[in-house]
Amino acid sequence: MATFSKPKALITGVSGFLGSNLAIIFRDHFQLAGSFCYHSQQIKGCQTFPLDLTDALAVKRVIADIKPDVVIHTAALSHPDMCEQAPERAYNINVTGTENLLSCLNFSVRLLDISTDLVFDGEKGWYRETDPTNPLNVYALSKLEAEKRVLAWNGNYSIIRTSLMYGSGNEVNNSFLHWMFRNLEENRIIPLFTDQYRTCLFVQDTAQALLQLSRLKDTGMFHLGGSENINRYEFGRKFASIFGYSPDLLKPVSMRDAPARAKRAADCSLNSEKIIQLIGFKPCNIESGLRKIKSEGKIIS
Ligand SMILES: NC(=O)c1ccc[n+]([C@@H]2O[C@H](COP(=O)([O-])OP(=O)(O)OC[C@H]3O[C@@H](n4cnc5c(N)ncnc54)[C@H](OP(=O)(O)O)[C@@H]3O)[C@@H](O)[C@H]2O)c1
Repeated sequence: MATFSKPKALITGVSGFLGSNLAIIFRDHFQLAGSFCYHSQQIKGCQTFPLDLTDALAVKRVIADIKPDVVIHTAALSHPDMCEQAPERAYNINVTGTENLLSCLNFSVRLLDISTDLVFDGEKGWYRETDPTNPLNVYALSKLEAEKRVLAWNGNYSIIRTSLMYGSGNEVNNSFLHWMFRNLEENRIIPLFTDQYRTCLFVQDTAQALLQLSRLKDTGMFHLGGSENINRYEFGRKFASIFGYSPDLLKPVSMRDAPARAKRAADCSLNSEKIIQLIGFKPCNIESGLRKIKSEGKIIS
């Protein structure tokens, strides 16, 4: 009987928080390759290798070598304060890196480009794909510029703007759960914003939605958020309650009381109706997501 090999997928940024979670889901469905930049990763079922996306020739070589059917582009300088401190570096990685990738992809390649809820200014909340953008910081501006490069590409892409994600990560790249966990374990008080709202999304839900999108064609722009719009303090209370930490260690604060390099947006909640209609996306609520992480027994893998 004839055997058919699996299609090939490439994850850029497989050493990252999202990339490493994607690899766990995608490896069952694809011949999987994943690039890291500085943080070497070994992932079962995924061929990993170093690639700096700002090196156009190296990107070209890798794409010619792997010939992927699907590319999930997660690699980015993703920390807003770092981007604010080094705007040129942020632009090089987030915008030029995306251009380098696009310039050598065949139009038949299915590209999933990961963007962010922070392209909005957070004044309104529950943003739809058609709402006007207004990035408040260098990170958000660079991600919006990257979106524009993808929108101008004539290939088979989707741009997925995700909300703030939580889940297990690795020692280097992980979610804000790791920061809460580390401090609460040491009985340290953590400040959490009461005036910053996000439709927080369980990273395993993101991975499942991207897997479904990887099988579709030319689907444009999507918002991918969780089912609840919650502030950081309320999120912390759910986390503390499920993981057994004292709520007294959570200090409610306003964004105004904690100045940072990068300007922060208040309510970047996303309306995910479009993707719900297309693929029946059903994100879990935060309590279920946190219970799943607890049952799996790891915040850091
Ligand atoms: N995490 C969230 O809550 C969230 C929310 C909205 C949108 N997003 C978007 O989702 C994507 C993934 O975010 P994340 O949280 O997983 O980020 P992350 O954990 O910071 O990982 C970033 C990845 O990009 C790689 N990278 C950095 N510079 C590179 C370069 N010059 N060339 C090639 N690779 C490079 C890193 O590699 P090394 O570590 O090996 O250097 C790492 O694998 C990003 O596009 C981000 O904008 C994330």
